[in-house]
Amino acid sequence: MMMKGAHFPTAAAFALLALATFHLVSASDPSPLQDFCVALNTTQTAVSAVFVNGKFCRDPKLATADDFFFSGLRIPGNTSNPLGSKVTPANVEQIAGLNTLGISLARVDYAPNGGLNPPHTHPRATEVLTVMEGTLYVGFVTSDNRLFTKVLYKGDVFVFPVGLIHFQFNIGKVQAVAFAALSSQNPGVITIANAVFGSNPPINLDVLTKAFQVDNNVVQYLQKQFWYDNN
Ligand SMILES: *[C@@H]1O[C@H](CO)[C@@H](O)[C@H](O)[C@H]1NC(C)=O
Ligand SMILES: *[C@@H]1O[C@H](CO)[C@@H](O)[C@H](O)[C@H]1NC(C)=O
Repeated sequence: MMMKGAHFPTAAAFALLALATFHLVSASDPSPLQDFCVALNTTQTAVSAVFVNGKFCRDPKLATADDFFFSGLRIPGNTSNPLGSKVTPANVEQIAGLNTLGISLARVDYAPNGGLNPPHTHPRATEVLTVMEGTLYVGFVTSDNRLFTKVLYKGDVFVFPVGLIHFQFNIGKVQAVAFAALSSQNPGVITIANAVFGSNPPINLDVLTKAFQVDNNVVQYLQKQFWYDNN
């Protein structure tokens, strides 16, 4: 009797744990419950003070083809900046029709001879990068600090798994262009150097000095730099 009594809560606890685990490992955006949910432009409405996970839906009867259209990736990004790269996003901020669909795109332009999309991570998306022009040296680091790298030529594809730190570097003598598909309507981007040394307000000097095992004037030097954001 006692054994039987003890079994049920254990099974229930496992079921709950399995359910919780399922939700925790579900890394992509939630599935839509209708054909589409074109995002409301909340700057135009009275609901601008209310936030939900995603965006509010506009009346689907009012949707048009333009809600699913964006011409902004025709234009090359300006790579005349300290990194020599520019990311042009095409996510739910640019295409309201992407709301709830769990996918987005970005164009990345790289200056010749060393244009760099610096080490960064997308907290909500896996990325599939396709090179349209040029030659890129790319890589990502796993959670046990293994580095995976590859040299990509025109037409080549590389995957950056969700959350992992990755980069792309133009090792060719000409401008490079790539398109990145991302498994979220709002992938987010955390650029490592900017987040660690360029946060506002700055991270405590003693914290970074100990974390990087360097003299604190090395950290002060890094915190004084201008951390350009190519996004
Ligand atoms: C949202 O509305 C504002 C104000 O009318 C406008 O400036 C902005 O371009 C709109 N954004 C989009 C994505 O349509
Ligand atoms: C690109 O950016 C640089 C630096 O901000 C600027 O001087 C230049 O005019 C820009 N070029 C174009 C085509 O917008």
